[in-house]
Amino acid sequence: MLILRSSISPHIKVMSRKSVLVTGCSEGGIGDALAQAFQRKGLHVFATARSSSKIAHLSALPNVTCIVLDVTSTESIETAVQIVNTKTGGKLDFLINNAGLGIVAPAIDADIKDAKKMFDANFWGAVEMVQAFSPLIISAKGTIGNVAALGAILHVPWMSFYGASKAALVNWTEVLRLEMAPFRVKVVPIMTGFVHTNIFNQGHGTSLPRESLYWPAHKEIDARSAGSDVTEKMDANVYANKVVNDLTNGADGRIYRGGMSSGAKFITTFLPNSMVDKMMLGGTGLDKPAELQAIQAARKATKTG
Ligand SMILES: NC(=O)c1ccc[n+]([C@@H]2O[C@H](COP(=O)([O-])OP(=O)(O)OC[C@H]3O[C@@H](n4cnc5c(N)ncnc54)[C@H](OP(=O)(O)O)[C@@H]3O)[C@@H](O)[C@H]2O)c1
Repeated sequence: MLILRSSISPHIKVMSRKSVLVTGCSEGGIGDALAQAFQRKGLHVFATARSSSKIAHLSALPNVTCIVLDVTSTESIETAVQIVNTKTGGKLDFLINNAGLGIVAPAIDADIKDAKKMFDANFWGAVEMVQAFSPLIISAKGTIGNVAALGAILHVPWMSFYGASKAALVNWTEVLRLEMAPFRVKVVPIMTGFVHTNIFNQGHGTSLPRESLYWPAHKEIDARSAGSDVTEKMDANVYANKVVNDLTNGADGRIYRGGMSSGAKFITTFLPNSMVDKMMLGGTGLDKPAELQAIQAARKATKTG
């Protein structure tokens, strides 16, 4: 028996376990927590990130293969497919498209180049990953989980482009779900609420130009960018354990996880838009008479100036 075991190649050992690939696993983020939760469940994890140093902590864990992967690079995606294909013998049970970024800026001020870069990662990156890995996923009758956000269903001021990228992802994912059903592949839009991660350290709010009509609300915009306007952030490991349980228990279709996700589901299902709008304006500066007047005065000054 001993001889038999030692004669089994590492290749075969990986194939005997279910496998998962997670994008964007930098330390301290959702991808990191998801990779570790899948590893604890006994899967072989392909943990990926743009930089190897950001996933070095995962490489020491058993049954983890670290891969450098930028989801906006076709070459990088093709290399990852080859590695997974070789290790698993052509199957992948779970593909989790988690990599993403955020931009916080008024709709008429955001830099369109930045917004397009964000769409490249949040939307097109996930699309290209699914297309490239679909043969392996179909072979495994596997599951695709795409990490979306509440901004896909709520109209959140100062986050129009982020919400748009996630709304595009959700709609595309829901159609994918119908189209993958004949192959018995499950597809899960993961409607993610607030989670403690590095995303709030990216400092995008600092890009608000001083001449912006919305400058009177710059404190609220900065607070949104830093995530300090939200208190209900879920611990990343708590979130990841719930999502991994959902997925390994056979979820197919939308799930809601993370701080305030149940509340968002409730209000978008049962409350009239006018009530939801009022809630969305809270804490943005657009709800405060003084800020609103200053914004309107700024516009008048621009018109006459
Ligand atoms: N945290 C929340 O409250 C929250 C709420 C809703 C949805 N989400 C979503 O959850 C996902 C993970 O975010 P997070 O909160 O964990 O933030 P995070 O800690 O900043 O992690 C984002 C990850 O995505 C990676 N990434 C960005 N662009 C990439 C690219 N082109 N190729 C490969 N990886 C790339 C980042 O890599 P680098 O480290 O190299 O930048 C990082 O590993 C995102 O899709 C985000 O939109 C988060």
